[in-house]
Amino acid sequence: MLAELSPALIAEVELAAKLLTSKQHICILTGAGISAESGIPTFRDKQTGLWENYGVEDLATPEAFTRDPKLVWSWYQWRRQLVADKKPNPAHVALAQWQYHTQSSNQSLTLITQNVDDLHEQAGSMVTHLHGNLWHNRCSQCETACQGQSRASYHSEDTINFDDTLMTCPHCGGYIRPDIVWFGEALPVQAWQTAEDAAANCEVFLSIGTSSLVYPAAGLAQLAKQNGAKIIEINPNPTPNTIVDITLAEKAGVIMPLLIQKITAL
Ligand code: APR
Repeated sequence: MLAELSPALIAEVELAAKLLTSKQHICILTGAGISAESGIPTFRDKQTGLWENYGVEDLATPEAFTRDPKLVWSWYQWRRQLVADKKPNPAHVALAQWQYHTQSSNQSLTLITQNVDDLHEQAGSMVTHLHGNLWHNRCSQCETACQGQSRASYHSEDTINFDDTLMTCPHCGGYIRPDIVWFGEALPVQAWQTAEDAAANCEVFLSIGTSSLVYPAAGLAQLAKQNGAKIIEINPNPTPNTIVDITLAEKAGVIMPLLIQKITAL
């Protein structure tokens, strides 16, 4: 794997490792790109199959759910099917190892994710979810948390039944929706507070696998920069993030194990 990386990129990884070991407070923000190598499509990838004619913005909004709750619920059922058997990849594992490693040091490492999958947790990380959790449900009217089907009941070969998939709240009769932050909705207060504090107080902000297009999460790097932090970005593609100090333009599953290997060796 190392042989595939250019000497210039390896030098940048070494620079990033030195920076990350020399500072005490690190904030990490992950996005859909970190789960791409586990087989979960990113949001800006074109949707496939039944959903290829829909944009994420047409499905992940409260207005879409009001207009056509069956459509939106079915899309999330499909996403749950897609994610149910997915496993952490080397990027998730390397992050978890690093977090474990810092427990016996004076470094503080705060991991924030925009992802609604639980691959960070499966890898053993402690993580704050900004955009909710794919496996949780709540009532769209009274907000009561509601248990859904178990993950084991989702099979990738099952077809989604558009006619009988809606559930209603036992308390108020409202439709049950996924406990996910949709476009135009507020982020969970506690999670956002954790993210803002970590970004404002960090010395290095590490952005992994996010297009940096969706706010407020995309503003965390700017907040960190305004408070004096250095910014490192891991993404094989360019982003609109113009404040980056070190760009590691490769897949997270390639860069993260190497980065953590270098960090733990220093
Ligand atoms: N490693 C690192 N980055 C990758 C990889 C990879 N293997 N594969 C793709 N990427 C990058 C893409 O280049 C892209 O910049 O991951 C990014 C994914 O971008 P998005 O799909 O926009 O995902 P994200 O930034 O997490 O989206 C933010 O938007 O739709 C909403 O709420 C949803 O949380 C989501 C938010």
